[in-house]
Amino acid sequence: MRYASAIMLFIGICCTCSGAAGAGDKKTYVGSEACKTCHAQEYERFMKYSKQAKSYESVALMKKGLTESELQGCYKCHTTGYGQPGGFRSLRQTPRLKEAGCETCHGPGSLHYQTGDKKDIKGKLTAADCKQCHSDRTIQSFGVKPLVYGGVH
Ligand code: HEC
Ligand code: HEC
Ligand code: HEC
Ligand code: HEC
Repeated sequence: MRYASAIMLFIGICCTCSGAAGAGDKKTYVGSEACKTCHAQEYERFMKYSKQAKSYESVALMKKGLTESELQGCYKCHTTGYGQPGGFRSLRQTPRLKEAGCETCHGPGSLHYQTGDKKDIKGKLTAADCKQCHSDRTIQSFGVKPLVYGGVH
């Protein structure tokens, strides 16, 4: 466990100095829990049934055999917004973004979180929204829309 916290500290430091975020995009990430107040049902279902809600734990379980840069590679898919402005940096700095949460599919939610306006969030999703992390073969097997009632939320 001492080993684990040393790694975490290292990730934190590493991200602080390389994290010069690209300017331009106003929307950033707020984390799934911020959606709970207004979308309690989606939130509860997501946390309970979706594997994505536990994606950080999957990586944490395999952490021991991995080098630091391999671990960073996992975060691209297993956390929210890794490598993007306001996205996941480390467990210590951004615990709210540790899982592949709501915003991996619906996009960064900071503006919508403030306005509650549906114009400010991505509501209609297609397979293209999954591609960054899922292979074509698995995307074809899941059909985006029916999933809402079958384990996404
Ligand atoms: C302050 C309340 C509030 C918060 C916080 C909030 N939402 Fe919403 N959201 C709304 C309202 C209101 C609607 C519109 C509902 C309607 O018109 O049917 C909406 C609609 C949506 C839609 C559907 C958009 C569409 O085009 O139909 C999605 C997706 C969504 N929210 C995702 C999120 C996510 C993800 C978060 C957290 C990052 C979040 N919301 C946080 C109030 C909120
Ligand atoms: C940022 C990366 C990312 C994006 C984007 C993403 N996912 Fe995922 N998804 C994951 C990860 C990581 C897992 C595996 C979590 C685990 O088990 O640790 C996963 C798991 C799933 C699972 C469960 C798979 C199973 O074997 O049960 C489904 C279903 C799923 N995603 C659907 C989708 C759909 C549909 C989209 C697009 C609308 C999407 N995902 C977009 C990262 C992502
Ligand atoms: C390109 C995106 C991507 C990267 C990079 C990635 N994963 Fe995944 N991972 C996924 C997706 C998507 C799934 C879910 C597969 C499915 O069920 O369709 C998954 C599933 C898993 C699972 C299985 C969880 C379960 O419940 O069965 C583990 C463990 C895992 N990944 C660990 C890792 C580790 C460790 C790394 C880094 C070395 C990593 N992944 C890198 C996308 C990714
Ligand atoms: C794996 C991708 C994925 C994740 C993660 C995800 N959603 Fe969705 N969400 C969808 C899809 C697909 C739809 C249906 C879009 C459509 O109707 O075309 C949807 C629809 C919605 C809607 C519109 C109303 C409804 O239920 O159909 C809201 C609100 C919403 N999501 C909120 C959330 C919140 C809050 C979270 C996190 C707790 C979340 N979503 C996580 C894929 C996702």
